[in-house]
Amino acid sequence: MIPGHVAIIMDGNGRWAKKKSLPRVFGHRQGVRTIKEIVKAANGLGIKVLTLYAFSTENWKRPRSEIKSLFFLIRQFIRKELGELNDLGIRLRILGDLSKFPENVETEIRNACMITSQNTKFELNIALNYGARQELIRAFEIMSKQGIKKPTEEIVSSFLYTCGQSDPDLLIRTSGELRVSNFLLWQIAYSEIYVTNKLWPDFTWNDLRAAITAFQKRRRRFGGLYSKR
Ligand code: FPP
Repeated sequence: MIPGHVAIIMDGNGRWAKKKSLPRVFGHRQGVRTIKEIVKAANGLGIKVLTLYAFSTENWKRPRSEIKSLFFLIRQFIRKELGELNDLGIRLRILGDLSKFPENVETEIRNACMITSQNTKFELNIALNYGARQELIRAFEIMSKQGIKKPTEEIVSSFLYTCGQSDPDLLIRTSGELRVSNFLLWQIAYSEIYVTNKLWPDFTWNDLRAAITAFQKRRRRFGGLYSKR
């Protein structure tokens, strides 16, 4: 079975650049090329939702110049790819608080989400200024304002950025780190985790296939005794 929702912690851009004695931004630039390849591959494989961790709430600690380069690359990605994403029936959704981004970047991203909002073939979630703890606090605040005193799992899920989407079946992390880094903490409760040593800029269609093959061999029991397959 192909996982319906795949989430990826794209890690290792900086190390990729360092290995080649290049500035870090070259790693991010190559990382964008990987994003394009993996979005198309995931769509072609029949995955329904792909969530990519592009900018965490902790990434503000990076040098201003690197943050600016990331903004530039995100904007350029939207500008260059929006037409094709739309033609492929891809809906773009942002997980995170965009209001901290420069106004022109925020406007462009929101516009892209609006333009693709009717697409149903495939959903591309990009986590920007995203932190799972912040997402949960935001959900609790909204619930409190709405007077919800006894939230259920379904109610909490409906106040997360991923509302209406199934939880990730498979969580991939590149570059070998064994951490979840404040990513989708609620949603990955039962996700299968796959870590590869490949650095994100080197991650290919074949690596995605390998992750899916490993996923298909897992027995998912969701806390019970029998696998749900
Ligand atoms: C992790 O590598 C990568 C990031 C923090 C940024 C990911 C962003 C992009 C690939 C570009 C822009 C995104 C879009 C959506 C077009 P790292 O810098 O933490 O690498 P390191 O751990 O080796 O230093």
